[in-house]
Amino acid sequence: MTRPATTTQAGAPIASDTHSLTVGADGPTVLHDHHLVEKIAAFNRERVPERNPHAKGGGAFGEFVVTEDVSAYTRAAVFQPGATSETLLRFSSVAGEQGSPDTWRDVRGFSLRFYTTEGNLDIVGNNTPTFFLRDAMKFPDFIHSQKRLGDSGLRDADMQWDFWTLSPESAHQVTYLMGERGLPRSWRHMNGYGSHTYSWVNAAGEVFWVKYHFISHQGVEAMSPDEAEKLAGTDADHYRRDLFQSISDGDFPKWDLYVQIMPYDEAKDYRFNPFDLTKTISKKDYPRIKVGTLTLNRNPENFFAQIEQAGFAPANQVPGTGISPDKMLLGRIFAYPDAQRHRIGPNYNQLPVNQPHASEARNYQHEGSMRYQFNDAAHRTYQPNSFGPAGGPEADPAKGIEINWEADGELTRSAATLHAEDDDFGQAGTLYREVFDGPQRARFLETLTGQGRSITIHEIRERFFQYWTNVDAELGAALRDRV
Ligand code: HEM
Repeated sequence: MTRPATTTQAGAPIASDTHSLTVGADGPTVLHDHHLVEKIAAFNRERVPERNPHAKGGGAFGEFVVTEDVSAYTRAAVFQPGATSETLLRFSSVAGEQGSPDTWRDVRGFSLRFYTTEGNLDIVGNNTPTFFLRDAMKFPDFIHSQKRLGDSGLRDADMQWDFWTLSPESAHQVTYLMGERGLPRSWRHMNGYGSHTYSWVNAAGEVFWVKYHFISHQGVEAMSPDEAEKLAGTDADHYRRDLFQSISDGDFPKWDLYVQIMPYDEAKDYRFNPFDLTKTISKKDYPRIKVGTLTLNRNPENFFAQIEQAGFAPANQVPGTGISPDKMLLGRIFAYPDAQRHRIGPNYNQLPVNQPHASEARNYQHEGSMRYQFNDAAHRTYQPNSFGPAGGPEADPAKGIEINWEADGELTRSAATLHAEDDDFGQAGTLYREVFDGPQRARFLETLTGQGRSITIHEIRERFFQYWTNVDAELGAALRDRV
């Protein structure tokens, strides 16, 4: 079989893909070599800006199957008994750039899209159930402190610890980060968490607060800092390779989805603020309830089109699921689509990976850069219109189910402390003393000793000791001794 002819982007056959058009064999290249110009121009535009943050990652497609009955809590079609949905899961590191080593200590992203019959549902979480902050206002500063210095372009322990120790609400998440979750064995060996409290509504209209937990069938395993450091040099793409290889080998990774469900009225008086992302909701108070199983079984065919250009967004909710008054989550509702309009382009939602796969997008938004889909020619470009079904879609309040909550009070810039255990260090101390076992505590102390030694500014190091003393007095004293 002969190979098809190479063409220009306009489909015309070209004479050569190896020789430019020149004046004589050694002569200068001419500008009217359209194929050469088009080829180099396309090359110059191959990259889109990387994600800021979570630039380095990888992912795969799969399916989510509901094995239990949680219809008492949500009407979402994706979570009804027996439902099966196509999914896309992207893992990532937070701070490093595109080419950074997978095994630098970091929190890992766990972004899951369900292509449901009622639209795309995205749960854009991490491998930790909490976060460093409780107010979106601080997020850009936090990420700046994790990235690079303005002058040298170097990452810097001083600026990381400066920010953390001046932001005591970070203590719980920093305890996770400096523990074993900061260095997972692979993306397959970690749990995923929606982290925020989200909401569900059932067919009767009852609202619940919900936390999503994806528990790994592969187990949660870490690697040692020595191993991580070595791999950072020998195989910077270690996690990406592991995931792709496992799926190619037919060893499909799986996670069970569990939820913690809190009845709507219990949020107000719960001992922890359920809308404070630095806190978890105790499993003793709200046990995990199983929903179903996620299996990754299909590698991307094109990394750029399907992983790099994927635009996940916590704003993507479906009837039966919703957000909550968590101030971080509310900030994220704006942040992601805005980032993607810039990073990928204003019509990023038309790309195959971002389109709904099991439902259809219908509305009166149109045109703009790179738009290639258009509404049926008979459809109007505005609403309301008087042309009935031929005039295009119409909003249906019975289908577009929004979950609301009560809010009242004066405009303010503060974080109320209305819950019994609203302090910054309590849950971090519990994690250190009660969840970590002896060897984990020993490795944690080792890691923090190294971190403390990497701080060069005296005042920041003093705050570092105080920060860990607030988490646990003995830990603080041990660090002061060792550092
Ligand atoms: C990615 C902003 C908090 C998890 C991103 C991106 C932005 C962003 C702009 C890049 C999106 C893109 O270009 O496609 C923010 C802001 C936050 C916040 C403003 C706080 C107000 C969080 C939290 C979590 C999280 C709390 C986890 C619980 C992720 C993940 C990604 C990401 C996993 C990568 C998404 C992907 O795989 O494409 N964030 N973020 N972020 N963020 Fe956040």
